[in-house]
Order: sequence, then C-alpha cells, then structure tokens
Amino acid sequence: MAVSKALMSMPRRIQFFAACSRAIALLLALALFIAPCSNADSAAPQTSAVGVHGMVVSESDDAAHAGVEILKQGGNAVDAALATELAVGVTNPAACGIGGGGFMLIYIAKVRHFYALDYRETAPLQSRPDMYIRNGKPDEDLARDGILGVGVPGEIAGIDAALRRFGTMKFQQIAAPAEKLAGDGYVASEHLGKEIETLAPKLKSDPGLSQVFLKPDGSPLKAGDTIVAKNLAATLKGLGNDPVTNFYRGEVAAALVAFMKAHGGLLTAADLANYRPDWRDPIHHRYEGYDVYAMPPPSSGGVVLEMLGALDSGHLAGLGVNSPPYLARLIEVMRQGFIDREQYADPSFVGVEIQKLLTDSHILELRERAMHPKTSPPPPAAAHDHGTTNLLVADKDGNVVALTTTINTVFGAKMSVPELGIILNDEMDDFAVAPGVPNAYHLEGELANQVRPGKRPLSSMTPIIVTKNGKPVMTTGGSGGPTIISGVLQVALNILAFHLDATSAVAEPRIHEQAAPDVVIVEQAMPAATRSALEQMGYKLKVVPNLGAVGAITIAPANLHGAADPRKGGGAVGY
Ligand code: GLY
Repeated sequence: MAVSKALMSMPRRIQFFAACSRAIALLLALALFIAPCSNADSAAPQTSAVGVHGMVVSESDDAAHAGVEILKQGGNAVDAALATELAVGVTNPAACGIGGGGFMLIYIAKVRHFYALDYRETAPLQSRPDMYIRNGKPDEDLARDGILGVGVPGEIAGIDAALRRFGTMKFQQIAAPAEKLAGDGYVASEHLGKEIETLAPKLKSDPGLSQVFLKPDGSPLKAGDTIVAKNLAATLKGLGNDPVTNFYRGEVAAALVAFMKAHGGLLTAADLANYRPDWRDPIHHRYEGYDVYAMPPPSSGGVVLEMLGALDSGHLAGLGVNSPPYLARLIEVMRQGFIDREQYADPSFVGVEIQKLLTDSHILELRERAMHPKTSPPPPAAAHDHGTTNLLVADKDGNVVALTTTINTVFGAKMSVPELGIILNDEMDDFAVAPGVPNAYHLEGELANQVRPGKRPLSSMTPIIVTKNGKPVMTTGGSGGPTIISGVLQVALNILAFHLDATSAVAEPRIHEQAAPDVVIVEQAMPAATRSALEQMGYKLKVVPNLGAVGAITIAPANLHGAADPRKGGGAVGY
C-alpha cells in the first residue's frame, strides 16, 4: 500500500525507475526460490539486489563485488567490509582512500553487541586555531586545497584495528581485491568520470594525480576508460600483514613525511607514530519499537537520532511519504537538528552533552522549536555533493557493518604523494576555520569545533544500524557532506515510518535543510506540485539534480535486500 502510494507521488521518470527497481527486486526474490544466489556473478552493475547468505552495498560496484568475494571465501561481515573499503579507495579515489579516515559501526551477532570505531583524521601536532588566518582574515581555501588542509590519516589504523578485533583474515587477504583493481586497472564509473573532468585543471598541477587520471596529452580520462594505479597497488602490497607499522612508522611514513617537508606541510613522523583509532560507545535512541544505533561525536549520528525522535508516528500521523505537510515538518526538524549540531565536536576536547541531547525532554523541546521556529537567516547558497563514500555489509551469521569513509572534498587536498599513489585528504576543512566562517559545505564554524593539535574535526558521516527485538532489521549510511545527515534521516524514515522497501526508500526524491543558509535544497525529481506547495508555505527552494548518495540494506530472515543509490551508481551485490 505504502509503496504504491509512494509510486503515485513520484514524477514519471522516477516512477519508471522505481517500478524497474521493484521489478528487479521481485525478479531477484523469485530467483531466490530457484537458486540461493542473486547478482554476485553478473557483469552489469545493479543497484538493487536480494541475497540469502550475504549482502554488500557500496558506491562502487567493483568494491561491492570485492566484499562478496571475501564473504564467499569464508570471511565475515567485518572482513568483507574492510575489503570493500580498500577496494572503493581504489575505484572511487576522489572520495576516499588510505590517505583519509572514517567511522565504522559494527554489530557482532554472537555477543549481540554494537561497537563504534572512530578512525577519523586528526589535526597535526603543529596545527593552531589561527592557522588559516592571513592578514587578520580567515582564508578557508587554505584548509581546502593544498598541504595545510591535510589531517593525519586514520584509514589504515582503523582497518587494522577492526580486522584484528573482529576479522578472521590477514590484511593481505582482504587487500587482494584492491591490489588487483589498482594494479590491473578498473573502469572509471560515470560519477568518477565527471569528477575527473570537473577537477582536471587542479589535477593537472599535481604530478601524481595527472599521471593517474589524465592522458599523456593532459586531457582527462573519462567514464569507461581504464584507470591504473600501479603505485597505489605497490603501496598496499608493501603494507604486508602489519599495515600499521609500515604505514605509520615504516617506509610509507618516511615517504609521507618527506613529501610534507618538501611542500611546507605540518604533518610529522610524530603525528603518524602517535595516531590511534578510538573505540567509542555507540549511541542509541528508540524509534517506534525500533532501536537505532549510531556513531557518537565527532560524528553527527546524534543529530540524526534527535531528528528521528522528533518525527515519531504521532507527529507524522496521516502524512504520506514526501507529502508537502510531511516535508514541512521535516524541514523544520532538520533546521533545529542542524542548530543543535553546533554543540557537537571531538568529545576528547569538548564536553558534548550527548546523553542530554538524546533525552526525551530535549527531543520534545527540539520538536517544539521546530513547530514554532524563530530564525534570522543568512543569504542562500547551494550545497553540493562532495567526496566521501558509504558501504554496508550483512553476513549470514547476522553480523552487520555500516561504515563511511572520506578524504573530504573531491580529490581531497588535490595533492598526492606520487611514489605511494596516496591522495591526501583535506579533512582540516571540517574544522571551524574561524567562528562564523562557512566551510566547503556552507556549515558555519563554532568554537567547539576549532582547530587544536591532535583533535578530530566534526563530521557529517553517520552510518546507522537499526534493530527490532534485538535483531538488526536495517542499516543505512551515505555520502555528500551535510546531506548525509538529511539523507540518512529520510531513508530511515522511508523504511521505518513509511514501510518502503530498501530500493524504493533510496529512490524517493529528497530534500536538505541545514538551518543556514536559509534555503531548502530539493531534488529535481520531487514533483513540481510538491515544490510549489512548499513555496506557497514560504520556503525558498533551490532545485538541484541530486543530493548525496544513501545506501540501505533491509534484513529479514533469509532475505537481505540491498540498495545502492542510483544517484552515484555503485552496486548492491547479494548471494
Ligand atoms: N568530510 C566530510 C565529513 O566528514 O562530514
């Protein structure tokens, strides 16, 4: 019922897509009765799949296949997620990679317990709160493009920590698919092709990036072209089975530090040697009989939990998915959620009162603020889909991993260490360059998120896992800066409140509101009548082709339904 209503509210193009997706899902479900496999061996990428034994959803189809290959070799969800992560670092190099860092939410079925791993980049020890001020004025470009944007990478330390604690394989076994993709080459996706084209002028000025992503005549490689990253393959291989020693204290560290020195960077051997990922306590909130688990700060997981709590069934009663009154409530709740986000930061440096923010009374207060908003909005600007990638894995034993990883904006600092094939992150831009100065995502900086040596910047990355009666029933996560928060919220609501299947939940058009600037960003697939209804309510809209990408897996006994987001491509691979 809910699904057909949702289809009726969509424009024709999306109706067609959603109908196709549902047909594919139905066909795959039928195939399950004939043979317990779906699309694991098919050549054409599919963004929707059904599986029995395992499911991997990634913004790269090659990477999703890498994860399933590891599951088939006997690996668990953690092994598969880490293999997918290394592989997507090769095939979506503009978004993530071993020069970056991320968050990982893990459910281990045997002990019925959640774990949250923070392996986000840290500010180098030589960094200072005023490092981006020039002649008394903040220069946010310094944090975004170039060597001063680079934070200490956490990716390899995070992968190693998760693998040693919960994996069953050695690093080289999970790295093998990534090494093959990098060494033999992979076919550039539509999404990557566009990113290379857009960034070509900047890629040209970096020897390592131009060597890999541009042709000898300087023109950009395109979607469908094969990209080979031999140096990255060699670096991954050279990490052996003790990747932390090699990356943070060995030859990789030496090459990274030499590069930093030569280019005026701040990162030193001590920064690398001192880097540690943090196991943190996951945060949790009830939603309509479900238990929703998320990453704690410096993730924005708490913001999603607050917003979800403010949109319970009592508040949504009688409203259809993407109906104008529903969207109006969503907008107001998002606005207040983003205002609360200003209190979030690295909890090792700032007392974030996360338990208080998640109390029922605070959530009721947020809802009250949403229903009676008082804001004085700054001028509008458009959000834009930046880097970052999300992936989701569920295995046959009930383990689930949801992780989001990033080098921040597209191609990070737009610099690479050529001999290592490592693209450097620009994660320092996620700090407040100076109070009130917006970052690349137009998010205004607050004191809590000011640069400090060894601190981790506030992030929008927010993978979640939802249980019912103690068993995981769904997981979702996304990419695209702050649109991750609004996207994860909407896909979660589409599944939990509107009972859509994973494919339809991901396909529904989305909106984004982040308090400042005062503009609601709306996907062009949102029906024109809905958009004009919102305008009549007084909302200023900015229509964009797509917001960020959000993936989802719904988990039922012997039926895993995975959906990658067609907005960015990628793959859902089940078996
Ligand atoms: N660098 C994007 C984020 O962490 O939100």
